[in-house]
Amino acid sequence: MDSIGSSGLRQGEETLSCSEEGLPGPSDSSELVQECLQQFKVTRAQLQQIQASLLGSMEQALRGQASPAPAVRMLPTYVGSTPHGTEQGDFVVLELGATGASLRVLWVTLTGIEGHRVEPRSQEFVIPQEVMLGAGQQSTLISWTKGFRCSGVEGQDVVQLLRDAIRRQGAYNIDVVAVVNDTVGTMMGCEPGVRPCEVGLVVDTGTNACYMEEARHVAVLDEDRGRVCVSVEWGSFSDDGALGPVLTTFDHTLDHESLNPGAQRFEKMIGGLYLGELVRLVLAHLARCGVLFGGCTSPALLSQGSILLEHVAEMEDPSTGAARVHAILQDLGLSPGASDVELVQHVCAAVCTRAAQLCAAALAAVLSCLQHSREQQTLQVAVATGGRVCERHPRFCSVLQGTVMLLAPECDVSLIPSVDGGGRGVAMVTAVAARLAAHRRLLEETLAPFRLNHDQLAAVQAQMRKAMAKGLRGEASSLRMLPTFVRATPDGSERGDFLALDLGGTNFRVLLVRVTTGVQITSEIYSIPETVAQGSGQQLFDHIVDCIVDFQQKQGLSGQSLPLGFTFSFPCRQLGLDQGILLNWTKGFKASDCEGQDVVSLLREAITRRQAVELNVVAIVNDTVGTMMSCGYEDPRCEIGLIVGTGTNACYMEELRNVAGVPGDSGRMCINMEWGAFGDDGSLAMLSTRFDASVDQASINPGKQRFEKMISGMYLGEIVRHILLHLTSLGVLFRGQQIQRLQTRDIFKTKFLSEIESDSLALRQVRAILEDLGLPLTSDDALMVLEVCQAVSQRAAQLCGAGVAAVVEKIRENRGLEELAVSVGVDGTLYKLHPRFSSLVAATVRELAPRCVVTFLQSEDGSGKGAALVTAVACRLAQLTRV
Ligand code: G6P
Ligand code: BGC
Repeated sequence: MDSIGSSGLRQGEETLSCSEEGLPGPSDSSELVQECLQQFKVTRAQLQQIQASLLGSMEQALRGQASPAPAVRMLPTYVGSTPHGTEQGDFVVLELGATGASLRVLWVTLTGIEGHRVEPRSQEFVIPQEVMLGAGQQSTLISWTKGFRCSGVEGQDVVQLLRDAIRRQGAYNIDVVAVVNDTVGTMMGCEPGVRPCEVGLVVDTGTNACYMEEARHVAVLDEDRGRVCVSVEWGSFSDDGALGPVLTTFDHTLDHESLNPGAQRFEKMIGGLYLGELVRLVLAHLARCGVLFGGCTSPALLSQGSILLEHVAEMEDPSTGAARVHAILQDLGLSPGASDVELVQHVCAAVCTRAAQLCAAALAAVLSCLQHSREQQTLQVAVATGGRVCERHPRFCSVLQGTVMLLAPECDVSLIPSVDGGGRGVAMVTAVAARLAAHRRLLEETLAPFRLNHDQLAAVQAQMRKAMAKGLRGEASSLRMLPTFVRATPDGSERGDFLALDLGGTNFRVLLVRVTTGVQITSEIYSIPETVAQGSGQQLFDHIVDCIVDFQQKQGLSGQSLPLGFTFSFPCRQLGLDQGILLNWTKGFKASDCEGQDVVSLLREAITRRQAVELNVVAIVNDTVGTMMSCGYEDPRCEIGLIVGTGTNACYMEELRNVAGVPGDSGRMCINMEWGAFGDDGSLAMLSTRFDASVDQASINPGKQRFEKMISGMYLGEIVRHILLHLTSLGVLFRGQQIQRLQTRDIFKTKFLSEIESDSLALRQVRAILEDLGLPLTSDDALMVLEVCQAVSQRAAQLCGAGVAAVVEKIRENRGLEELAVSVGVDGTLYKLHPRFSSLVAATVRELAPRCVVTFLQSEDGSGKGAALVTAVACRLAQLTRV
């Protein structure tokens, strides 16, 4: 007759069988005990070896290396993100217990409000009536968690069966959304705290862990962005080299007698299913040797499975005391003496301490893997722990934590016990999946207007062509097509020393350019404070002359009157080479009383005010022209100048016969297109987004330079900032928290786009930059910010490419050529620093102007050199006419 005792042990059928060989003496017994317990001692070196071997297997499995077969599986789950804390909704979770015998149904409510938890309701076996949805309720998601070792394939089949069953019932509106491993449920159920919870550890019947890995490291996924939760499946780890030295005779016996000999060797030293069994084997051995229970065993002690994890936990728990140990042993049909109780406790402690230490070695391997893949020196992470061993054993987690600190000292780990098993976590998996899908949809909707197709770009090219023609004819057009009076590129015979000024880009420079058989440049950068750029015109030009005087003194040029070329990167209507009326300021300049004035006269007046200097201003040159001339000195096919920096613009060699207002019909003249203003007549309205409108409205020249505001460095960061603000207001970014710093104008610099996009995979830059800005960033946020930057810069580059395509086609048609080979001299920080801008421009040009072979030459010396060359050519021509 079997009756189950209070501790779950069989009672009544015990007959003690005792050793007949006599009991060992006290010193022999203590040796026997020591020898036995010693086997369970694991040294730090052994743990480190296990950690290293496991890490090696993990990395091998991630790489998809098939031979030799890795000792762990590293199964990617389809969980791509951890909870934000904003997830909400009602979820039904089915938990199939480890044995498959019980089905727990949970109704989980996520409130989406931090710190506000609703306890899940649960019931075994019966599906509660409230699952039926009443009027007004949304469809409910079901998730399925199985016990340990759930296989994806089996899972899929089960899901289909479940779906079919639900459909047959007809009364329920339930969708089956996810199959979740228990480690994943544990990790996902962790309340979002100060540090990210990106590892889930379960020590229950079996043991396993999962963690958030960079998707690009998981070879089977073929995905280079984002993260994915990987289930390590470390229970099957069995590297003889590393595990061999720590396996005891008891481990061998346990394995031999198990249902799956040779398999899951690591799990068999840690999992709750085995801890009781190991204790039982040791106790039986010590009893047989006469060290325990007066040399007597009982049938229960000799039966597999008679000591359970719960017993081991209770026997070790100091709060339950020796009386409880006594009772448990008695239930096993044994008659323990006082010293037996203590020894049994030692055995339990030895077995469980080893389990916790081995588990720590495995966890340390996971943390190292995480640290490697994040490329971080130190790691701060929370590990969610679950399973009966973690929950019930009094010391398991503290031994685990202490050992992890020794094995992975660079990781700062906090263990967070899972609150309600996997239930909440499984609900969270579906909630997070739903949040990600919703956020992606909102992101796509937001960025859709930035993604231009071929037809849209071809339309921009065509409109640009129309506006060019009108501008050249002197008709109203947003393209002014300004003649520059530059008719010839250098022929190499120019000689002399020239001064050059370069105003209008990131830097103001004064240069001394020596033209001999080559060109030598000495230059100095000066700052133009914003107060000066936006103060009075007189102040600005006085400041410029002060800088020239300083430069002359430093170079020993005082008193000399060298010919001077002035790169002035703003729209000017030129009446000759040395006369340019400023039409309007752009790019953050706003000095008063300059618009409508001849810039060369303003400079000369400032020189007169300064009296001490004499300067001979020969030419005023736009930066596009300077760049074209500078590159043209190296490559005579360079007939286009392009700037994509603070502002944007282009110039090119046009047939004089097409240029209204300049006498003469033969030859060519360089035309400054001032394409930054393209679209100021409303012709780009169909491409303009709400973000372009916001940037324009907040600028110092609303309604002006609309093309420039979609392309150039002064504005791209601002467009990104406005998009980020919008996505935050939708709750898609930064957990929907409005961040004050993001409201600050110009806080998101365009150089950030270049930095962020240079590092598209590791997302390190995105994190560093946004954290520097004080923006609280999750890894989903980092990816979205990257996508925003890419969309904005891609549109900029494509629009710029459409402009270049219009220009090269115009040149080709002007010359009646089937095919044109031409070079473009380019300058500007955005073009030079951004990782993809130049190739995107080139690709767009190839697509829109297939009959032109266009080479892009980056200008190395800035357009000041070009201004000096224009001056040199002018001086050469002047000399010729004098002769
Ligand atoms: C050249 C010129 C500048 C010009 C600049 C554009 O190098 O020397 O005068 O305006 O490129 O680039 P930035 O990015 O400085 O506006
Ligand atoms: C100016 C152009 C200049 C361009 C690039 C624009 O804002 O109007 O004259 O070429 O910026 O610097």
